[in-house]
Amino acid sequence: MKDIYKLFMSYLMEHKDDPLSRDVVFNLPYQLLRSENGVSVLRKRGAFFSGDNLVDFLLRDVPIVKAGIYDPAAGCGDLLLRYLDKLELAASFRETMQEWESIVFAAELEPSFVKLLKLRIWLLLCLKYHVVTKLGELVIPDLKKRFAGVVCRDAFKYLPETMPTIVIMNPPFQQVDSKSIYSWGTGKVSYAAIFLYEMYKRFPKSRILAILPDVLRSGSRYEKLRTTVAPDLESAVRVYGRFDKKTDIDVFVLDHRPDMRQRVLRNVGRKQGRMICHDFDVHVGSVVPHRDTLKGRSCYFLTADNVPPGSNIIRVKEKTKSVHKPVKGPFVVLRRTSSPSDKIRCVSSIVSSSHDFHLDNHLIYLKPRGHKSELKLCQDVCKFFSSQECSDIVSRLIRCRHLTVRIIRNLTYKGGK
Ligand SMILES: C[S@@+](CC[C@H](N)C(=O)[O-])C[C@H]1O[C@@H](n2cnc3c(N)ncnc32)[C@H](O)[C@@H]1O
Repeated sequence: MKDIYKLFMSYLMEHKDDPLSRDVVFNLPYQLLRSENGVSVLRKRGAFFSGDNLVDFLLRDVPIVKAGIYDPAAGCGDLLLRYLDKLELAASFRETMQEWESIVFAAELEPSFVKLLKLRIWLLLCLKYHVVTKLGELVIPDLKKRFAGVVCRDAFKYLPETMPTIVIMNPPFQQVDSKSIYSWGTGKVSYAAIFLYEMYKRFPKSRILAILPDVLRSGSRYEKLRTTVAPDLESAVRVYGRFDKKTDIDVFVLDHRPDMRQRVLRNVGRKQGRMICHDFDVHVGSVVPHRDTLKGRSCYFLTADNVPPGSNIIRVKEKTKSVHKPVKGPFVVLRRTSSPSDKIRCVSSIVSSSHDFHLDNHLIYLKPRGHKSELKLCQDVCKFFSSQECSDIVSRLIRCRHLTVRIIRNLTYKGGK
């Protein structure tokens, strides 16, 4: 990775007549990092920094307090700086510097990021106190020994001197080997999951503000993590959407307040009604055409192509053999592919005959559980799937482009007895 501190310093030298602006302090470092490093280098390090909109969203309802604040994956401070920017200033530059030195804690693995982070905090103070007008007038002090709480360390081996009131983080999202030390996840897991779990464990009394990949909230792989942390996490979750224009990953923000008792990490917009899992068995179709051998019983074969949305199916032209157990009608079929931009998130159809069907694994099916009026149940749930209410709830719960069985099972619809 190109040394971002050197790049930033060169910029300052080459633009001596430019004003010390917000843009230089807040936006320039990430612009330089992105222009000088390929995406694969950034991905390896997980170096995707938070911008104004995302941080404003994260801090929307958070009182900004002058108290210990810790960023365990600080980068060069894009998130931390935006928090500090909102703090009330003391009477003088010196006093504020002293205050911030006693409350700011940060860990980061990349040495050049740490150097730049310290410099940017100092520059932010220069900007706020109008210390200089031009970049050429800056006299940068030796900051090595300043901000002792800002360290070039592995966050899992560092503990701030005082327990922070706030832990704020946008951890790296890449997949890492969990080394099988976590009961909630083995093999490759999102690094963000490890950060969330570790920080929650280390700082149970801190308010945890985090930007996290949507998969942690909605993916079935992280169900165990959610149940591990949710009973005590006392958290709040808000869906944000795409990280930024250049980074196509959906994120949510978490605000875990120790003073509140909420279990929103497991959030399902529940209203009056019955959960789908009480009336239906929900599964993914089991046939994978390019992988399965064509053996077994021949039955009608449902795929995303021969199930028109909103249709009532009795039989289809296509048939296939499969060793998997066929599904007997009536049942409801859902397309698994579903984008947050789709008007209807759960595109459903009813199979109303009692024939046997094999189903492609791009489909989810809901088989009524031995009720007398199975068809009526199917109609009730399809009515719910086609409603705006259902699409809104699903969009809140899941931003990735595939519906999951867990989400469908836990939805509440008005139907059943
Ligand atoms: C997604 S960036 C976030 C930077 C910054 N907090 C922001 O939002 O702009 C994550 C940062 O975590 C750092 N990082 C990765 N593993 C770490 C670890 N074990 N300890 C400390 N920092 C780490 C990466 O170098 C990267 O700069």
